[in-house]
Amino acid sequence: HATRDVDLASLAPGHHMTVPWRNWPVFILHRTPDMLHALQDPALLSRLRDPDSRERQQPPDATNPWRSVRPQFAVLIGICTHLGCIPNPRPVPVDPQAGGWFCGCHGSQFDGAGRVLRNMPAAYNLPVPPVRYLNDTTLRLG
Ligand code: FES
Repeated sequence: HATRDVDLASLAPGHHMTVPWRNWPVFILHRTPDMLHALQDPALLSRLRDPDSRERQQPPDATNPWRSVRPQFAVLIGICTHLGCIPNPRPVPVDPQAGGWFCGCHGSQFDGAGRVLRNMPAAYNLPVPPVRYLNDTTLRLG
């Protein structure tokens, strides 16, 4: 049961990084207030396959509108839920303010909460790993 501690102190708002954890890439995005606002935009929500993440690809403490323990940090397992490619950071075209990722293998789009758009090859939202914060700038995966 491997854990990994990640220092977020140098991750500026609007930036992202990828860290390996248990053979998976984990995406961490420091969301800005604009991004948090955009993620609640009804026009975006209407384009998502599972906007409320009812299919529950996240732990209970991340079952909220941001799919994260702390709203300002998105933490997602970076494996496309279609056939397992690694998506690249790219804002969703329907609302670039909402951030996001794009899977180049077959074109799936995910927003800045890892939620997949409708009619994409990917079957469900990017999973959220178990996360807890040890202090203001250190998160523990696992
Ligand atoms: Fe990502 Fe197919 S593996 S869209």
